[in-house]
This record gives sequence, C-alpha cells and structure tokens, in this order.
Amino acid sequence: MTNIDVSEAAALHALPPLPYAEDALDPVISARTIGFHYGKHHKGYVDTLNKLIAGTELEGLSLEKVIAATAGKADKTAIFNNAAQTWNHSFYWRSLRPKGGGEPPQALMQKIEASFGSLETCKKELATAATTQFGSGWAWLVQEVDGLKVVKSGNAETPLTGKSKPLLTIDVWEHAYYLDYQNRRADYVNAVLDKLINWGLAAENLG
Ligand SMILES: [Fe+2]
Repeated sequence: MTNIDVSEAAALHALPPLPYAEDALDPVISARTIGFHYGKHHKGYVDTLNKLIAGTELEGLSLEKVIAATAGKADKTAIFNNAAQTWNHSFYWRSLRPKGGGEPPQALMQKIEASFGSLETCKKELATAATTQFGSGWAWLVQEVDGLKVVKSGNAETPLTGKSKPLLTIDVWEHAYYLDYQNRRADYVNAVLDKLINWGLAAENLG
C-alpha cells in the first residue's frame, strides 16, 4: 500500500525502497548507475505520475489499475508511460540480486527445460530479446497458459496489459547501462544474466 500522508484525500504512489544497497550490484552495475537510475529516473516517473493524476478520477487507484485504465488510450499516454515505468522499474530492481545468476530453483528449472529445452537456451533468448529491442524497452521472461516465453517491449510497454504473467525483466533503456558499458548493451545483458539475474523472483511469480 502507498499510504504516505493520511491527511491527503488520496494516497500518493511511493518510490519503493531498493531491495539492496546502491553499491550491492557493483561491479556489474555500478553505484553511480543505480544512483541515477533509481534516484533520478525511477523517482522521476513516480513524481510525474503523482502530478499527472492529482485531482483526476485515477487518483487513489492502485498502480496496476492506473496502468489498466490508461493502456492504449491516446489521451492518457503520459499517465500510462509514467505508471508503467514506475511498475516496470520496481519489478526490475527485484529481478536482480547481488550474487544472482546460477541455477534457478527446481520448480522453475523444470518449466524452463519444458519450454526452452535448457537454461542456456532460455538465457540466449533473453539476451537476444534484450539486444534486438530497437531503442528503449524491456526484455521479459513471462508465463502463458502453454508455458514460459521470452518477449520484448518498447518504451514503457509492459506484459501486465496483456495475457502474459511477467516473471522477471531486464531494463534495456540506455540509462540502465550507459555509464558502465556505453554502447555495449550485449555486455551489460550477458553480465546481468550470468551474475545478477534473480531466478528466485521468477520462481515466486509462477502461477
Ligand atoms: Fe530504466
């Protein structure tokens, strides 16, 4: 819940705390990158969202409801973008962990092997989605009725608006890696998959 100020008629959306220290993902992702990415970009989406919905019928709704109510509506693009980016980033921080990577928990590993054949193929599909997303966006491991899939989305787009259940994500906006990797998106993506990806989050999210 986001009840920050009970004196206000409607609760504001809050920037959730990072699940680890800003330097905990170093050297794969530096504290400097996290400082800007979390402290400026993510905070900026939350603050802008709160400003845009103040006094509208969307004020006081959960983040998920704001996203659902604005998706695909041309006159609500700015609200959708900031709401979806708020959600996507909170999910991204949880998709990473210090000393991540390695083997997924067994229940997830079985589903990965059933859907992709092997963990290596799953990681390759995630890397391909992340590196071939043209411009800003996201790579996702999702669950659908017939198994796990890898999808990519542009800008603020999120699987939340479709039938897929997001299991984990990798942010491929340049602000996620440029200070550390400059134009080498593939190096960032492969390092994240090998050393930071939080398979535990994906396992928790399995339906
Ligand atoms: Fe980002």
